[in-house]
Amino acid sequence: MNRDVPRHIAIIMDGNGRWARSRLLPRTFGHHHGMKAVGEVVEGCIEAGVDVLTLFAFSEENWSRPADEVSSLMNLLEEYIAKETKKLRRNGVRTRILGDRTRLDRRALAAIERVERETADGTELQLGLCVSYSARKELTRAARIIAEEVEAGRLDPSDIDETTVASRLYTAPWPDPDLLIRTSGEQRISNFLLWQLAYTELYVTPVLWPDFTRRELFDAILDFQDRERRFGKVSV
Ligand code: IPE
Ligand code: IPE
Ligand code: MG
Repeated sequence: MNRDVPRHIAIIMDGNGRWARSRLLPRTFGHHHGMKAVGEVVEGCIEAGVDVLTLFAFSEENWSRPADEVSSLMNLLEEYIAKETKKLRRNGVRTRILGDRTRLDRRALAAIERVERETADGTELQLGLCVSYSARKELTRAARIIAEEVEAGRLDPSDIDETTVASRLYTAPWPDPDLLIRTSGEQRISNFLLWQLAYTELYVTPVLWPDFTRRELFDAILDFQDRERRFGKVSV
């Protein structure tokens, strides 16, 4: 057993569309209601003493959804930042956006830069919002950075180790997630943090993201605390 509170929790926030469909509402209503759950987990993590929370908000693959859904998700990101930046700052939540920014429009970029700048002093909780994020792209980008450093003579190929790779990922400043939560019952990773999840404990709940509360977060943490993490070794 492992009584520790996870230092880093990652969440695949899934099930907004199904939440809306079950109420005969458009999918975008589900996304909108999902914002409340984001507030719940941010506050729940602070309460529980978690250091890092990484949320999968929008994947690279999600760009292929219908244009009106994509634009409403981008508007929601801007709305979240506009509404919550003050509170994040007040609560000491340092917020960073992880993903490919080149695909974001000017307004979304400005919002992202604003929340990162205005919360930069936060030390209570490190919040990572994955937007336009793909783990394979993140690893490909790291490979390119390393190749460029080798070409420039700043890095010797024989010095490349796991730390070299990890320190060129978006998550470089943080420890790997201890616990991954996926809502809505789907049992897959969907191109999220492929490197960082090597030894993460997985927790899948049928609860749809808009219904997720801090109670569910604490249930996941309690479940995590009953696990035995062996990291390939034998029980002691
Ligand atoms: C998660 O909910 C939010 C995003 C992926 C942006 P979905 O929109 O995937 O909801 P379901 O899976 O269709 O229910
Ligand atoms: C994963 O959910 C991405 C986010 C939660 C942002 P999806 O709904 O896009 O994943 P799949 O399609 O079910 O694998
Ligand atoms: Mg989904």
